Amino acid sequence: MNVVILAAGMGKRMQSALPKVLHPLAGKPLLSHVIDTARTLSPSTLCVIYGHGGDMVPELLQAPDIAFARQEPQLGTGHAVMQALPHLNDDTQTLVLYGDVPLTTARSLRRLLDIADKNKLSILTVELDDPASYGRIVREQGRIVRIVEQKDATETERAIREVNTGILIAPTARLKQWLTTLSNDNAQGEYYLTDIVARAVADGVPVVSAQPDAVWETLGVNSKAQLAELERIHQHNIAGALLEQGVTLADPARIDVRGTLSCGRDVAIDINCIFEGKVELADNVTIGAHCVIKNARIANGAVIKPFCHIEDAIVGAESMIGPYARLRPGTELAEDVHIGNFVEVKNSQIAAHSKANHLTYVGDATVGSRVNIGAGTITCNYDGANKFRTVIEDDVFIGSDTQLVAPVRVGKGATLGAGTTLTMNAPEGKLTVSRARQTTIEGWKRPIKQNK
Ligand code: UD1
Ligand code: CA
Repeated sequence: MNVVILAAGMGKRMQSALPKVLHPLAGKPLLSHVIDTARTLSPSTLCVIYGHGGDMVPELLQAPDIAFARQEPQLGTGHAVMQALPHLNDDTQTLVLYGDVPLTTARSLRRLLDIADKNKLSILTVELDDPASYGRIVREQGRIVRIVEQKDATETERAIREVNTGILIAPTARLKQWLTTLSNDNAQGEYYLTDIVARAVADGVPVVSAQPDAVWETLGVNSKAQLAELERIHQHNIAGALLEQGVTLADPARIDVRGTLSCGRDVAIDINCIFEGKVELADNVTIGAHCVIKNARIANGAVIKPFCHIEDAIVGAESMIGPYARLRPGTELAEDVHIGNFVEVKNSQIAAHSKANHLTYVGDATVGSRVNIGAGTITCNYDGANKFRTVIEDDVFIGSDTQLVAPVRVGKGATLGAGTTLTMNAPEGKLTVSRARQTTIEGWKRPIKQNK
């Protein structure tokens, strides 16, 4: 099968410099949703028609299985499909999809495929209470005879509630021939793809229809309001699927998944969490309110308390993170690690049972097991030009308000006194402290204000 995705339109009502089909829904361009769905049908040809916004669309979405055809100027949906013709294989059928209709399911497309064959024109239609600006499906004795655009329709035709979703499957050789006969003599001065329906009827080719499971599958995005509406529908669907799998959601209306979230058994997610990219939550993971988690793997039984920001990180089993913790890219925590409030970890490995509970920066560090990092500890990893590593071996105790000036190593079992600025390695098993000795000045008096 050939698949053609129409994505050249400008999307004037989006009020944006970004081509409409590149606006993100659930963190991914509208057009990518359509491409991903098309791929599930294993098409032999996948052709995207682009135009508005110059080369942004092919530059951003290029892939070995996609052919891009430019439509310039954009003279209508029929003219758009014409640009794909050199790419299409005549021996199979052609499915037309819209780059701004992101939520059509593969299941509904398969239903259309099931009724399609090379001697028919098959259209996905839907009944709407308010058919608005959609093209109307005109039937005679139950048979589809043509589609009339709202702007060209008579009063009676406008009352028709069955509309064209735009998605259709046509026999390719016929399609090519019908497209050559299109004219732009209509209200919008465009070459309408929908006019092929009347051509098919004239050629004695039956026009059949199938319906999607849900109306939202056929909704297109023409404005930011519609984009927001589809985002909510999509998020509602994702939340529903998570609940179905047994995930506990404090409020299915207050979770956003912008990527893939996979959850084990007995996972609980509190309100207002955002998951981006690929996130894996193993069994018994708890996510507190207001967390943003991107490309992360969180192991069995870990507890992420409220207001954490986690990106490109691995959290070990039974670990406790937050509240207000930030795990930046390259963080790898083993099991039972505690990262507390206002602690930032970056590009560091922290081994099992270690803790940094308060107000700390751990960057470019390798931290052993059972290490206790006191409040206010900072790895000084950057000299303004280069970054250096800090190594903290097993069973180290770091007193509060310590600075470790990297590169530096703290030997196994060492203790660093509070307030230490460590600029040389600390030997294992010993107390190292860099601190001016405390003195008390005997007989010292506070100055007193002089009376003039
Ligand atoms: C079209 C259909 C209408 C249908 C509706 C469903 C036609 C003439 N009308 O109308 O029957 O109910 O979709 O949403 O087909 N595009 C191009 N190049 C162009 C024009 C459009 O690539 O020159 C693309 C757009 O980017 C968009 C799609 O085609 O993805 C639909 O275009 P749009 O202008 O929104 O068509 P409608 O007027 O909504
Ligand atoms: Ca439209």
